[in-house]
Amino acid sequence: MSDAPTLPGHPHIARRGSTLQVEDVALDALAREHGTPLFVYSKQWMLDALAAYQRGFAGRDALICYAMKANSSLGVLRVFAEAGCGFDIVSGGELARVLAAGAEPAKVIFSGVGKTRAEMRQALAAGIGCFNVESEAELDVLNEVALAQGRRAPVSVRINPNVDPKTHPYISTGLKGNKFGVAHDRAVAVYRHAAALPGLQVVGIDCHIGSQITESSPYLDALDRILDLVQAIEAAGVPLHHIDFGGGLGIDYDGDTPPAADVLWKQLFARLDARGFGDRRILIEPGRSLVGNAGLCVTEVLYTKPGEEKNFCIVDAAMNDLPRPAMYQAFHRIVPVAERPSLPATRYDVVGPVCESGDWLGRDRDLAVEAGDLLAVLSAGAYCMSMASNYNTRARAAEVLVSGANATLIRRRETVEDQLRTEQAL
Ligand code: LLP
Repeated sequence: MSDAPTLPGHPHIARRGSTLQVEDVALDALAREHGTPLFVYSKQWMLDALAAYQRGFAGRDALICYAMKANSSLGVLRVFAEAGCGFDIVSGGELARVLAAGAEPAKVIFSGVGKTRAEMRQALAAGIGCFNVESEAELDVLNEVALAQGRRAPVSVRINPNVDPKTHPYISTGLKGNKFGVAHDRAVAVYRHAAALPGLQVVGIDCHIGSQITESSPYLDALDRILDLVQAIEAAGVPLHHIDFGGGLGIDYDGDTPPAADVLWKQLFARLDARGFGDRRILIEPGRSLVGNAGLCVTEVLYTKPGEEKNFCIVDAAMNDLPRPAMYQAFHRIVPVAERPSLPATRYDVVGPVCESGDWLGRDRDLAVEAGDLLAVLSAGAYCMSMASNYNTRARAAEVLVSGANATLIRRRETVEDQLRTEQAL
């Protein structure tokens, strides 16, 4: 990347001359070519984020399974498949997608509380590496489906360790009140049950405590609780080949300071080593931390609208493209693509065209902008495009993957014809 000054916390986004660029590609040129809203991703950011995990796992027996729900675009999946990653999937659709991107089936693990029989059949036929089973009822159904196919399904049981990840309530998953996993107290009994089912082969144990976690302590607490269980389950005669420690590591949206992946894993391996589990195979399922700050969304200012209580900056991206503010009151930094030093900044709510008051992207932002200007909504690599919808019959945005000076359109903009294709008027 060139020596232009980078945005704080975003080493792959720089301001060169009058425009922002991702790696060596100018955003104004991309917007002219592909229109807006437009997602732009840095391949190097993804590989650097992956490298932090790989450093943390150097010399260990480990598999990084990218949680593809964070961003499941084929071009993004291909980056991780080529880097040798496994994948964490949560639906038959994700399985089909990841196989289309060239993933090795044996490196695919299947999480989620509501797998259907059809999805189980599809995943068994593909030969995935492990089912992360979330209930006793699911164990029984998977056993039945596997026996009917004459196979044994490799399974882990997802344990709910009842640890507070200290994150937004909608994205904490390892508390007693959450729908995920099997209660810690039931774990040994559930493992005995699994081990007795002829269509199953117990291979591991799994947990995932939440998302956008910015401290190490919830992980250390969860690890201790899981290792206690590994000891108890193995004492009950069920050997466990691997420990899957889930994902959840946060990113910097607004000055957040999560531990770096290698620093976190140094701490976790110190605990694993101290307790005699340092040689055990480790799986992880990171999503956001591998893609979140790789991406931004370029959007055009349509109108500025002064109001009695608030001023509005109305842009062409909306809650259907960037659902996180509406869903979790999430913060995304918003910066102009070209700065206007001579224009005084005005305080705006940045909002989209969707007919809902919840359709906002940022509140109380000081911006020097006029209609026609471009803005970049940062930290938009994870849980934006993968959660995008067609609400208000809005077409989903296009996506570009940047590598150095090369920009590849990895998803063309959706058309209204694409949307109407599956429907039938009476
Ligand atoms: N494994 C399992 C079983 C999960 O449920 C999740 C995320 C992950 C791995 C990946 O977690 P990550 O490393 O990305 O934190 N839409 C929300 C986030 C939902 C996370 C759901 N589960 C958001 O935009 O903040």
